[in-house]
Amino acid sequence: MGNFRHLLLLLGLFGLEVAAQNETLTIAAVTSQIDEFLKLIQNGSLATREASSLPTGCSLACSFINFALPGQVSFPDSITYEYQESRYWSYFQSTDTPTCRFAPVNPLGVSLAVLTVQVTQCEFAVKSGGHGMFSGASNIDGGLTIDLLELNEVIISADQTQTSVGSGNRWVDVYDVLEPKGLSVIGGRVADIGVGGLTLGGGMSFFSGRYGWACDNVNTYEVVFADGSIREVSYSTYPDLYFALRGGGNNFGIVTRFDLATFPQGDLWAGSQTYFYTNETAAALNDAVYWLNINAPSDPYGQVILAYAYVQSFGAWALSAEVQYGKPEAYPPILSNFTKPPGAIASTLAVTNLTALTISFNNSNPGGFRETYWTLTVKNSPTILNDIVNIFQEEINPINTVENLLPALVFQPITEDIISHFSKNGGNALGITTADGPLILINIAISWSLATDDAAVFAAAGNTIARANATAYAQGLGFPFIYQNYAALQQNVFEGYGAANLAKLRAVSEKYDPLGVWQKLQPGYFKVF
Ligand SMILES: Cc1cc2nc3c(=O)[nH]c(=O)nc-3n(C[C@H](O)[C@H](O)[C@H](O)COP(=O)(O)OP(=O)(O)OC[C@H]3O[C@@H](n4cnc5c(N)ncnc54)[C@H](O)[C@@H]3O)c2cc1C
Ligand SMILES: *[C@@H]1O[C@H](CO)[C@@H](O)[C@H](O)[C@H]1NC(C)=O
Ligand SMILES: *[C@@H]1O[C@H](CO)[C@@H](O)[C@H](O)[C@H]1NC(C)=O
Ligand SMILES: *[C@@H]1O[C@H](CO)[C@@H](O)[C@H](O)[C@H]1NC(C)=O
Ligand SMILES: *[C@@H]1O[C@H](CO)[C@@H](O)[C@H](O)[C@H]1NC(C)=O
Ligand SMILES: *[C@@H]1O[C@H](CO)[C@@H](O)[C@H](O)[C@H]1NC(C)=O
Ligand SMILES: *[C@@H]1O[C@H](CO)[C@@H](O)[C@H](O)[C@H]1NC(C)=O
Ligand SMILES: *[C@@H]1O[C@H](CO)[C@@H](O)[C@H](O)[C@H]1NC(C)=O
Repeated sequence: MGNFRHLLLLLGLFGLEVAAQNETLTIAAVTSQIDEFLKLIQNGSLATREASSLPTGCSLACSFINFALPGQVSFPDSITYEYQESRYWSYFQSTDTPTCRFAPVNPLGVSLAVLTVQVTQCEFAVKSGGHGMFSGASNIDGGLTIDLLELNEVIISADQTQTSVGSGNRWVDVYDVLEPKGLSVIGGRVADIGVGGLTLGGGMSFFSGRYGWACDNVNTYEVVFADGSIREVSYSTYPDLYFALRGGGNNFGIVTRFDLATFPQGDLWAGSQTYFYTNETAAALNDAVYWLNINAPSDPYGQVILAYAYVQSFGAWALSAEVQYGKPEAYPPILSNFTKPPGAIASTLAVTNLTALTISFNNSNPGGFRETYWTLTVKNSPTILNDIVNIFQEEINPINTVENLLPALVFQPITEDIISHFSKNGGNALGITTADGPLILINIAISWSLATDDAAVFAAAGNTIARANATAYAQGLGFPFIYQNYAALQQNVFEGYGAANLAKLRAVSEKYDPLGVWQKLQPGYFKVF
């Protein structure tokens, strides 16, 4: 180790600690440090993983970062690497194998990585909770994966109105700190979802009727820019970039910390009622979604997730109304249409708390399967949902024997209460205003086991979306919004935000990332270009 310190001094990498005080590394500094590093290898002072030749590309990026920040980089077959690889929700992501994984312990480490990948031209991916569903979303074959899991601070401000959350936290770890203090934030509904991806894509919570989506509740983002600088982005410091981060996904920098608006929150009343599918129950619950959208302004504490699924063990379709009320009050009138239909085969309605609720949702969404999510948004209507259920059943029934198939179709109201918060602080990038009226968010979520079934499953999901969209537009009920957090890679998320917002997002990208680092060197997920 003494030797190591000597080498660090030799290379000027000791400057990393010094630079930390000023929070800046530059591309020039990192270029010259990598040159020195290569000289050390060339003249035999330093052994590398590759015996014969000088490392290039991601091998160079990995060995250089490993040298500069020992203990934070892991390579295939190590326990650390395998552990981090096991923390993806979807099979498609856990089977991507990066050259190495880097788990920075502070923003400066992220900055070093962002500059190193540019010097070495190494493609990279960034992971928070790892719930992105498709290959390459937050992992990368043969590249560098920056795993934010060590950025896990949760710090409540003295006045309890803001919580600073490291971007590698899972939501349950945030709620664990806040809940005993009677506080909460707008975040995910499944325990293990990451703060990073959910918040950058929008972020639907149990409390969105009162406060909007997660992206509408970030006071300040701490962001590593493409030039390696680390800056505090808020509505007052960088209004254009702040807008772009509110729905822009991974296109605008690596967020290392989110300062989240924090509010008092106690127990909830929540749970589900599950039924065997009948046309009558379906029609009644679909109608209830329509009426909730009409009546929501009378009580923004009520929320619902209405899900249809083919259940192989029943050999039948089932539907489940998941209701949540943000107070510990049973059977609130706003949710009465969802609890009314007779004949439930299971009911879990009870007073509960956020941590327990997100763990129960986590248990009903186990990881490790092949997964695909697709999405669509339609205007509020009492009948369009029946049409979409029929389309989904027509597409799924012919493949319902696919091994371990679990196909779900999920409806969630986007009420005018929710939308009213989208315009806070200059507005978010999603392209929805109260003039659009209440909307219904549609999500198709399918899991299965075998690669030989991939084509059939993707076709059923894609066909459902195309047919549902055509049906909606034919009835004047179409709407362009594509929710990034539920979208398939085949879907055009940013076009769905509308031409004006897409143009703004592209202009912000060109201004803050003129070389296209987030667009080109980070190929995974949805891109504004
Ligand atoms: C079981 C399940 C339940 C879900 N429930 C909800 C829900 O209740 N509400 C909701 O809105 N959505 C929900 N989603 C969707 C979820 O929000 C998205 O999958 C989201 O992308 C997950 O975020 P993550 O950090 O876990 O994923 P990751 O795969 O880690 O990240 C997703 C994308 O965001 C990028 N990213 C992550 N962190 C950062 C960062 N700090 N800086 C820059 N880029 C970053 C990654 O590079 C990647 O491209 C759910 C998904 C699943 C699978
Ligand atoms: C920090 O930056 C200032 C101004 O750019 C400079 O004068 C100072 O020497 C730097 N401090 C360190 C520790 O690098
Ligand atoms: C190897 O290169 C480094 C960096 O340029 C230099 O400091 C060192 O003296 C060299 N060692 C040998 C054995 O040549
Ligand atoms: C939340 O509920 C669970 C399960 O009932 C309980 O164990 C836990 O203590 C509760 N947490 C808080 C903060 O009330
Ligand atoms: C349910 O509705 C579908 C679509 O309208 C129809 O084809 C089917 O026959 C109905 N089922 C019953 C049992 O009425
Ligand atoms: C419940 O549904 C009926 C129509 O069946 C509607 O008149 C009523 O407003 C709905 N109530 C709520 C709270 O949505
Ligand atoms: C969430 O579920 C996964 C299995 O899919 C499990 O590994 C993890 O521990 C669960 N998280 C919590 C907080 O229960
Ligand atoms: C829905 O249809 C409209 C009108 O034809 C089209 O512009 C849009 O791209 C379609 N959206 C999806 C998700 O297929």
